[in-house]
Parts: sequence; structure tokens; C-alpha cells
Amino acid sequence: MSHSETTLASSKAPSSLSADQRVTVALTGASGAQYGIRLIECLVALGCEVSVMVSKAAQVVIATETEESFPSASDKLQAYLVERFKAESWQIKVYGRENWMAPVASGSGAPHKMVVCPCSTGTLSAIATAASNNLIERAADVALKERRQLILVHREAPYHEVHLQHMLTLTRMGALVMPASPGFYHNPQSIEDMVDFIVARILDQLGFEQKLMPKWGE
Ligand SMILES: Cc1cc2nc3c(=O)[nH]c(=O)nc-3n(C[C@H](O)[C@H](O)[C@H](O)COP(=O)(O)O)c2cc1C
Repeated sequence: MSHSETTLASSKAPSSLSADQRVTVALTGASGAQYGIRLIECLVALGCEVSVMVSKAAQVVIATETEESFPSASDKLQAYLVERFKAESWQIKVYGRENWMAPVASGSGAPHKMVVCPCSTGTLSAIATAASNNLIERAADVALKERRQLILVHREAPYHEVHLQHMLTLTRMGALVMPASPGFYHNPQSIEDMVDFIVARILDQLGFEQKLMPKWGE
């Protein structure tokens, strides 16, 4: 995806931006930080506005698994991500874990599309029980109660009974539990290829045209 094709010169979101092009992405502390980072990159390249939340544990995982160094302060992280993805400033909004004034904290500003990627078992369980103890959990709860799209890119192995119960509960409530388990039939040559496998499936679910990975049979 070419970034230059999709970004705009203005720092204000264009009035033509549809609700479907506003996507909320939360990174939590499961292994697989690269999935979330690549997802944000692709959404920016697609011209979306991306609301970003990063849990404390995700900060640790990002530092452990990648060369990235995400600042913990929201304003600094926002500036870092805008620079990192060469985004227009309107494209990335970062909200802190207790920013209850964020639009996504309320039904009136509910995210139309929210992806928790990667999704830790802790956050999955908190969403299943409507805990809402931080903004990520609250935004996901709002997405569910407002019947919006919620995708949970969970990573854990193996599962015990409560994990499976929570996944069933969430599925029945309308969330999509999408395990971060890349296939191998596209003959991946690199970690990036495996990351793109999952990100392509997420973009397919969100309804975006993606060229990362052909659909089966193409
Ligand atoms: C390097 C690292 C890898 C982790 N991997 C996983 C994982 O794959 N799945 C998981 O559920 N938790 C994993 N954890 C543990 C979670 O980060 C931990 O349970 C945390 O409380 C989750 O908090 P959060 O949901 O607010 O991000 C990992 C932690 C670290 C530091």
C-alpha cells in the first residue's frame, strides 16, 4: 500500500471521512506486538483515522519483542506514531488508560470498528466480564453494548476452561475472537510475512481492500 496515495495534506480529518474509516486499535500485553504495529501502519496507509490505546503490559512486550521504543505519555506516543508511520496528524489519536473523556469511552462516541491486537488473556477476560477497569476494557465494552464491530486477536497457548468459556461468551455477544495463529500455506519467508498473514485477515474482516495477502483461490 502506498502511503502517498492515501494521506492528505490537512491536519484536520477530511469531512468525507466515513465512520467506517475510523478504527480503534488497542495493543495489550500478549506476545505479538508486531501484529498491532503493522495493523496501525496499514490502516494509516489506507487513509484511516486510528484511535490508539496501549496497555502498560503492552509497553513491556513492545520493548521485549521489537526494536521500537514507545513513549509512555500519550502526547509523546502520538507524535512518535505520526512520525513513525509518516501519518497526517489527524490520522493518529492516542488515548491514555484512564482518559475517561475519550470519545470511545461513551456510547455516543463508540468505536464503529475496534481491534484489540494483540489481545492478552487478561484483557479478553476483562472484556468478557464487562470489567471496564481501563479505557481499553471500557471502549471494548462500549463497542459490544452498542453492537459495533469488535475483533480480539488473542494469543495464548494452551487454553484452560475459563479461557474457552470467555471466548464463547464473547462470540455469543458478537465479538470476533481471532487467534493470532498464522497459516503456512502462503509459504512465508520471514516473520514479516507471518505478521502480514494475520494483519491481512484482520483488514479483510474490517472490510478494507488489502494487497498483503491474496484471498484463498486468487
Ligand atoms: C514478553 C511478554 C509476553 C507475554 N505474552 C503473553 C501472551 O502471549 N498472552 C497473554 O495472555 N499474556 C501474555 N503476557 C502476560 C500479560 O502481559 C499480562 O497478563 C498482563 O497483565 C496483561 O495486561 P493487559 O491485558 O492490561 O495488557 C506476556 C507478558 C510479557 C512481558
